[in-house]
Amino acid sequence: MSAHDDLDPDIAAMREQYRPRDGGLLESDLAPDPMRQFGRWFAQAARPGSPLAEPNAMVVATADPSGRPASRTVLLKSFDAAGFVFYTNYGSRKAQDIAANPQVALLFPWHPMSRQVHVSGTAVRTSREETAAYFRSRPHGSQLGAWASAQSSVIASREELDAQYAELLRRHPPGSEVPVPPHWGGFRVAPESVEFWQGRENRLHDRLRYVRTPKAWRIERLSP
Ligand SMILES: Cc1cc2nc3c(=O)[nH]c(=O)nc-3n(C[C@H](O)[C@H](O)[C@H](O)COP(=O)(O)O)c2cc1C
Repeated sequence: MSAHDDLDPDIAAMREQYRPRDGGLLESDLAPDPMRQFGRWFAQAARPGSPLAEPNAMVVATADPSGRPASRTVLLKSFDAAGFVFYTNYGSRKAQDIAANPQVALLFPWHPMSRQVHVSGTAVRTSREETAAYFRSRPHGSQLGAWASAQSSVIASREELDAQYAELLRRHPPGSEVPVPPHWGGFRVAPESVEFWQGRENRLHDRLRYVRTPKAWRIERLSP
């Protein structure tokens, strides 16, 4: 307990009046497809002076075969016309969910910009070549971390994890090549729909959603 635990913030009174710095989001502003529109917003979120600490942090929601949902933050590591890529452990809860049900949702919570991007799509594993290329770009310590962690499994203690890492460091000293763990790799989320949300005054936000159709992306406006 600290003295701060005695503070009683008035949660019900907490509210921001959203005033978008670049105006609202209009249909005429939009790129013809959602990945290009995402590229524009991402560039703004990531530019020098951006109020966002980690613009590539996104929440991935999955559901297990019984329908029970779970969400967690991961880092977007690339995006292209085909979708959004993140890396993880293929034995983790999220990867097991995806193996049973590849439908996922992504959320970019860009609160300091009064924006969010919501993606609904299907996750597929990246190729081993793409995974290996990214793995080799990671710092040595992160490469070993991918080996050391059986992500989402219960472990006895912190010491067990540290001992595992120390043993890996002994076998693969800095400068040596670390093989790509077979249980680790990427997922690419191919979007079915992407919604761009821009907070505006009086809760009259802009919500523009791209929906994939056989021919082209349909764009629709949602009530805030
Ligand atoms: C800012 C941030 C970034 C993260 N990035 C990743 C990531 O890129 N990949 C990953 O597997 N876990 C990442 N994590 C950890 C996950 O949130 C999560 O704890 C872990 O993947 C296990 O999730 P699961 O048990 O639901 O599969 C990140 C967490 C935070 C807070």
